[in-house]
This record gives sequence, structure tokens and C-alpha cells, in this order.
Amino acid sequence: MTGAASQAYGEAWYWDERYRKESGPFDWYQKYPALAPLLRLYVCPHQRLLLVGCGNSVFGENMVHDGYQDVVNIDISSVVIEQMKKKYHDRPQLKYTKMDVRNMSDFESGSFDAVIDKVRPKFTRACSKDARGGEQNPQR
Ligand SMILES: C[S@@+](CC[C@H](N)C(=O)[O-])C[C@H]1O[C@@H](n2cnc3c(N)ncnc32)[C@H](O)[C@@H]1O
Repeated sequence: MTGAASQAYGEAWYWDERYRKESGPFDWYQKYPALAPLLRLYVCPHQRLLLVGCGNSVFGENMVHDGYQDVVNIDISSVVIEQMKKKYHDRPQLKYTKMDVRNMSDFESGSFDAVIDKVRPKFTRACSKDARGGEQNPQR
């Protein structure tokens, strides 16, 4: 991963291009089975959840398989959102919306019982380190 590429991690065009080429699925870092016990401690299956920067991960699918009923997914890439809507058209528990996490004004305040942001914080840190000439090769 070059510095220029990792700096593009925050750009919709970068992800659109990437998801056009890689139709996935792919889960970055921790996968659902590793995080499920922790989630179960804090989030009940009937609660409404938001998955931020969902990409083409199977995290939401695994949650529904585990009994979660209302999993809203957002991503900045319209390409991946269309792919996921198509893939999960028969899973009403999974909703997909193109949205930038920096502007979620379409959701009313208090819309969710829990928000899961599995990747973005680390990701943002990796990008800023890279921008300062630090971490050049964030683990995929
Ligand atoms: C490293 S991928 C992680 C995908 C998935 N969450 C996973 O765990 O495998 C980061 C995702 O965040 C999305 N993303 C980047 N910036 C975003 C933003 N400002 N708002 C919403 N999604 C964003 C990208 O389109 C990409 O799908």
C-alpha cells in the first residue's frame, strides 16, 4: 500500500473503484465470531444497530444468523451499497444506505441502540500516521 493509496482511504471514489474490481466478501481485521461474545454482552437481538463503513463484510449477515433483527449498514461507497442491497434483497433484517459517517443527519437523534465501527477508527489513525510519514503498511 503506497502512502498515496492509503490517504485515499477516506475518499468515496477510491472505494467505488476498489469494490468494482473486488466483489468480495472481505472482512478486515476481527471477524464476527471473534467479536460475537462481546457484542452479546452489550447488545440484545431486538435492538437496532448501526454498522459503520460496512463494505462487503459478512459481519451483518452473521449477526442476523445469530438472531439480530434490525441491522442498518452505511458506507460512503454507492458501489458497495448497491452490491449489498442486491445480495441481501431477501434479508429484511439487513438495511443498506449510502451515507458518509461524518454527516448522518438523515437519521434522527437516538435512532440506534448501538453503533459498531469495527474498522474506521484504526483506519483513520493509520491514514493520519501515514500522512505524517509514519505507518506505511496498515494490516489488511
Ligand atoms: C477497511 S474497509 C472495512 C469494511 C468492513 N467494515 C470490514 O470490516 O471489513 C472501510 C470501509 O469504510 C468505508 N468508509 C470510508 N470512509 C467512510 C465514511 N466517511 N463514511 C462511511 N463509510 C466510509 C469504505 O467505503 C470501506 O467500505
